[in-house]
Amino acid sequence: MARERSTYRCQECGLAAAKPGTCPDCARTGTYLQLVEERVAPARGPARTAVASSRPQQIGEIRLDGGGERVSSGMGELDRVLGGGVVTGSLVLIGGDPGIGKSTLLLQVSGLLAERAGPVLYVSGEESAGQVKLRADRLGPSPAGLYFVAETDLQAVEAHVTAIQPRILIVDSIQTVYLPGLESAPGSVSQVRECGARLMALAKGRGIATFLVGHVTKEGAIAGPRVLEHLVDTVLYFEGEQHHAYRVLRGVKNRFGSTNEIGVFEMGERGLTEVRNPSGFFLAERPKDAAGSVVVASLEGTRPLLVEIQALVTPAGFGTPRRTVLGADYNRVCLLLAVLEKRVGFPLQSQDAFVNVAGGARVAEPAADLGLVLAAASSYLDRPLRSDLVVVGEVGLAGEVRAVTGLEARLKEAAALGFTGAVVPQSSLTGRGTYPLDVQGVGSVDEAVKVLLGP
Ligand code: TYD
Ligand code: MG
Repeated sequence: MARERSTYRCQECGLAAAKPGTCPDCARTGTYLQLVEERVAPARGPARTAVASSRPQQIGEIRLDGGGERVSSGMGELDRVLGGGVVTGSLVLIGGDPGIGKSTLLLQVSGLLAERAGPVLYVSGEESAGQVKLRADRLGPSPAGLYFVAETDLQAVEAHVTAIQPRILIVDSIQTVYLPGLESAPGSVSQVRECGARLMALAKGRGIATFLVGHVTKEGAIAGPRVLEHLVDTVLYFEGEQHHAYRVLRGVKNRFGSTNEIGVFEMGERGLTEVRNPSGFFLAERPKDAAGSVVVASLEGTRPLLVEIQALVTPAGFGTPRRTVLGADYNRVCLLLAVLEKRVGFPLQSQDAFVNVAGGARVAEPAADLGLVLAAASSYLDRPLRSDLVVVGEVGLAGEVRAVTGLEARLKEAAALGFTGAVVPQSSLTGRGTYPLDVQGVGSVDEAVKVLLGP
């Protein structure tokens, strides 16, 4: 019989090593983590010889029996992120900061699904039945078929699943459940990985759509186990700013649909409500004819989203000028300010610059570059842009304005919200397109500033 040997595992990234020490992978990023010993469970019975129980099939011959069927959750914004509804037998991981509203979202969805899909079992390792009942009452009447249990032992959860036969299972959270057979503590990499695998088998074996809540570390990744992200079918992040009511559910991995889709919600007195027109929501308080304010037409997945970028450029005191950025990438903004300085000749070295995306929204794509540059230029010159204008375009280091994808979807959304003009990259205009508003192509930042803000 083979000698039993311990393995040593990193609790952060799951790296396994034969010897104790620090994790070499994490050390590269400057964090030195002790590897934790993990005993191997003694093998039971004689080793099995490899007899294949699987049989390769031609893909064309494969039959779908029930699997892959979708049920609408009754929440359009969630269905959109999942790729068109909840897939039977799928495993979905929802991550997010504490207090952002993961439990609220899942409790609301549970209620809706219990009505339309069949029994739902909500397992919580974090809250008692009383706490959940109080929350559920705030959210409205709970339908029949919505079961709750406060439990952390995964074997007990499996027994409940056998008894109740739910169509949907919610585990809040994966870091609190554990398998008693494993020595490590709940939330450790080995527990999370084993529990995740067991739940995966349960979901696939019985066709139960399963939602797992995952906690997020300070760095913003789902705590500890990146292993879990590989295992599950879908990974969603629930995000938002603490002081704003809006929340965004973002798909980062999806085996059943496209990623980068977003669903937008608003947190209120009675839980989350869907925001069907997020652009209108983000633009609601836009000041008219204010210098430094620019509306950009960005694209989140397949969904166009209009957001307002605000910049304030003011003379700096002594020393290094300040740069403060909220809702956009800091380094990207610094780069764009440098382009404005070098290619258009604005002396921004002597100016403080503050950039904010209004309403607590966030822009991540390069297509917002031109909007950021124009907001800064408009504030510096103290000249407002036309208020019925949207801007799109990526900016390169030479000051050139580069093409963007999905121009038509962006412009359609802008027209639907009453905008009458758009400034877009010259190279995105193919000539044959007809657009729902006045379109002006620009080739460089210099040209855009001259055309829109005057010489
Ligand atoms: P919760 O769902 O417990 O967050 P998570 O599970 O992600 O940790 O959300 C808790 C927050 O949501 C809390 O700060 C209160 C707020 N909230 C409302 O504003 N309205 C509501 O109707 C509910 C249920 C919660
Ligand atoms: Mg919670």
